[in-house]
Amino acid sequence: MNTETNHPLFDTSLSILQEINIPRFTARGIKLYIKRDDLIHEEVSGNKWRKLKYNLLQVQQGNYTGVFTFGGAYSNHLLATASAAYRAKIKSIGFVRGEELTENSNNTLERCAELGMQLIFISRGEYALRNDKQYVDELKSEHTNFYFVPEGGGNYLGMVGCQEIWKEINKPVDEVFVAQGTTTTSCGLLLGKPAKSKLHVIPVLKGFDAYEEMLNKLKWFLFQEDLAKELLEDVIVHPDYHFGGYGKYTPELLAFIQEMYTYYKIPLDPIYTAKAFYGMLHELESKQYDNKQVLFVHTGGIQVCKEIEKKNNITLFTN
Ligand SMILES: Cc1ncc(COP(=O)(O)O)c(C=O)c1O
Repeated sequence: MNTETNHPLFDTSLSILQEINIPRFTARGIKLYIKRDDLIHEEVSGNKWRKLKYNLLQVQQGNYTGVFTFGGAYSNHLLATASAAYRAKIKSIGFVRGEELTENSNNTLERCAELGMQLIFISRGEYALRNDKQYVDELKSEHTNFYFVPEGGGNYLGMVGCQEIWKEINKPVDEVFVAQGTTTTSCGLLLGKPAKSKLHVIPVLKGFDAYEEMLNKLKWFLFQEDLAKELLEDVIVHPDYHFGGYGKYTPELLAFIQEMYTYYKIPLDPIYTAKAFYGMLHELESKQYDNKQVLFVHTGGIQVCKEIEKKNNITLFTN
């Protein structure tokens, strides 16, 4: 496989490493950097491109007709796949959770359809089989020459793409913070991180066993459980910043997003990055972070904000 960092579809040099100055932290010698992967592209932003990059290379190098994947009604991954496939001039099929939905149910699905993605709405029961080998094999034989990308881009190649973020970090890092869903991004970051640095993960799901989920992913990546466990010693899980669980948010979190944009011009989304950023700022109040170099990986997801602004009749980003 070609493992060039650059890919003609999207330019990751748009993702700058931005230093932000929060006086109460700067006064304690904390340097805070944000890896702005949200700037890679409006729709294929953040970890989405990191996860799709090598998957799309497989599609292109393997001469596949297209790609098929899974996602929920508001899935960032579904939209990113549709958008990247459109740009790569390959076909895309999205299996969507919820047979009651249509392509007009929301902006995300509308946009996926507009980008040429064939949307197939399936029941929750069928969706539950999305990681079942036999079920996926059946879909592969129904859609011959279509390459399968799992939900959330959560496969080996997705992890490899996320690991690559480190190639673009030219500062020493003691502590890195990231939002967690499928754990693909955090596992990739863990595999590539500098020795001695700590990886702080903020799961956005309530009651999520982050350690176990990461161990499961890393075991099949490394073929060595002991090594996976050793790597996980550098992971710190912060389980209390989920704000009610996946897809849930509070007025406090929305106010936090508005405040972060007003002060630092950092856009955050209420599903993933705001929870992680909020968690990080809360943790950094502790003295143990004095004089540390801290990195926040902005994993994107901002396009969902339009929908949330409309639903709550608010403006999140005011200049
Ligand atoms: C914006 C955003 N941030 C973070 C994550 C979590 O990443 P992962 O699923 O790789 O843990 C996701 C989900 O993919 C996401 O859409």
